[in-house]
Amino acid sequence: MKRIGILTSGGDAPGMNAAIRSVVRTAIYNDIEVMGIRRGYNGLINGDIIPLDVSSVADIIHRGGTILHTARSKEFMTEEGLDMAMNILEVFKIDGLVVIGGDGSLRGAQKLSEKGIKTIGIPGTIDNDVACTDFTIGFDTAVNTALDAIAKIRDTSTSHERTNIIEVMGRNSGDIALLAGLAGGADYVIVPEKELNIDEICKEILKGKNRGKLHSIVVLAEGAGGAYEVGKQIQIKTGIETRTTILGYIQRGGSPTAFDRILASRMASMAIELLMGGKTSRTVCIQNNKLIDLDIDDALSYKKQFDEKSYKLVEILSI
Ligand code: F6P
Repeated sequence: MKRIGILTSGGDAPGMNAAIRSVVRTAIYNDIEVMGIRRGYNGLINGDIIPLDVSSVADIIHRGGTILHTARSKEFMTEEGLDMAMNILEVFKIDGLVVIGGDGSLRGAQKLSEKGIKTIGIPGTIDNDVACTDFTIGFDTAVNTALDAIAKIRDTSTSHERTNIIEVMGRNSGDIALLAGLAGGADYVIVPEKELNIDEICKEILKGKNRGKLHSIVVLAEGAGGAYEVGKQIQIKTGIETRTTILGYIQRGGSPTAFDRILASRMASMAIELLMGGKTSRTVCIQNNKLIDLDIDDALSYKKQFDEKSYKLVEILSI
């Protein structure tokens, strides 16, 4: 393997830069050249490609976002798009590719592998919704960002003796809501994996009030229902003043936590080792605290297991 490419795709996630740095430096350490493909699969189709040397990834390990930019490419998913991408890879003499992103991005890597290019995927998304891995790059940082916001909202919530709804990201996955809620001492978490039951939430809030609690915190994942509507309903049914905060894109930015930097550095270095070993269509994952690699098809067939225990624990701890 002489020259590889790297791209980031889908929603950005803190730690992607740490992964890029690790890919570039591990590759160069092993005498492999690296080309940075900018703007995800769109950049691959358009030949938006730059060489990456050791210095090009200096001073980025602590930075959120992705220096390569990212995109969600519809064109790449077509047969023509795929052919254009293969053509560009040939023109730039790229014989291996590392893709950092979510499920859709890994699927793209798998498609390129079928066409003959050696590909390795690295799961990177704040949502933690890539089922084959216990953690995706960026998730830990997003949880900590949400936690910081919950702590601040908790202060004003107590002062005013209100209920506060905090909406976090997670279109199909309640993981950020669940773990930020657990760590932030939420009274209730609302996640897409569980049916929304406003009466049940109101019962819990009133139970808390009756035992002298000054405020309630409810953390809601964006995919679980409209936060403002949920807040309105709760206010009507409990008679307690209720405010809603949508955290939004603040969760996608910021300096990655130590956990995300370490995870990203290790996963990315392993991706290069896999390419050097002639592997293709593999994704790196972390399971039970061990890095492993799986066939991308197999990895994508995993079904995400909702963490029922943590969900129950939020309920237990908020009595
Ligand atoms: O990165 C994952 C995610 O943040 C989801 O939680 C969210 O719904 C989505 O991306 C938003 O993506 P975009 O910025 O492309 O609209």
